Amino acid sequence: MRVRAAALAVGITIAGASAWAAEPTKGGADLARGEKIAAEVCAACHGPDGNSPLPENPKLAAQVAAYTAKQLADFKADKTRKSPIMSPMATPLSEADMKAVAAHYAAQKPRVGEAHDKATVSMGEKLYRGGNAATGVPACSGCHGPAGAGVPAQYPRLSGQHAQYTTAQLRAFRSDERSNDPNQIMRQIAARMSDREIAAVADYIAGLH
Ligand code: HEC
Ligand code: HEC
Repeated sequence: MRVRAAALAVGITIAGASAWAAEPTKGGADLARGEKIAAEVCAACHGPDGNSPLPENPKLAAQVAAYTAKQLADFKADKTRKSPIMSPMATPLSEADMKAVAAHYAAQKPRVGEAHDKATVSMGEKLYRGGNAATGVPACSGCHGPAGAGVPAQYPRLSGQHAQYTTAQLRAFRSDERSNDPNQIMRQIAARMSDREIAAVADYIAGLH
């Protein structure tokens, strides 16, 4: 691994290349390769450090690495999570590439946004922390963590995510358009949520940290 990372660094002229030799791998992932892929292919939409500026492109900074790698594999398979934008991005990536770019983003510093809708933020907070007993929606915090940090390997980070993206994903789970959640966890939850609840919790999550 060390030899390969060093060889790669020689061929690349991006600033910071010299730092790569210090920590070429993390959990078996090739960080130098991850940084190269991110800079050359992904940065245009997800931002140079994974804090995407546009609300339709998800932030990837500090995301649980195993989750990111799984999403890339799912986009490549093009069955349970489809995106005309991401599918062609994921298709050329090998499993090792996915692991590498996921480890790169996991190591980036996240930038949190803020909730915008004062009228619904307390509803969003209530739902996030306590769920909705009347409709059987469980507390999001139970899996995604009280501050939305996620749980490595199991549950993705939600903290600070763009509300527009979160809303789109919850709607996609609700309509079964996105069906890559293990044991239908998120589809069953989203099916019990109203449009108003989805918008409120997505807005709350944007400022959660
Ligand atoms: C042209 C813009 C664009 C480029 C380039 C791009 N993405 Fe994306 N990415 C998106 C959009 C839009 C979505 C949301 C897709 C959806 O609707 O589910 C997304 C979603 C994702 C997700 C899912 C995030 C989550 O929280 O579930 C991951 C992971 C991801 N991209 C990684 C990458 C990687 C790695 C690259 C580079 C190899 C890349 N993207 C290049 C636009 C882009
Ligand atoms: C029982 C555990 C559990 C609970 C409770 C839960 N989630 Fe999830 N959630 C998951 C898992 C697992 C995934 C990852 C699915 C996958 O692998 O694609 C996920 C994914 C998501 C995603 C997609 C993230 C992304 O970056 O695309 C969103 C958004 C989300 N959950 C929001 C919520 C909200 C809002 C609530 C509360 C109303 C909630 N979740 C409650 C387990 C849970």
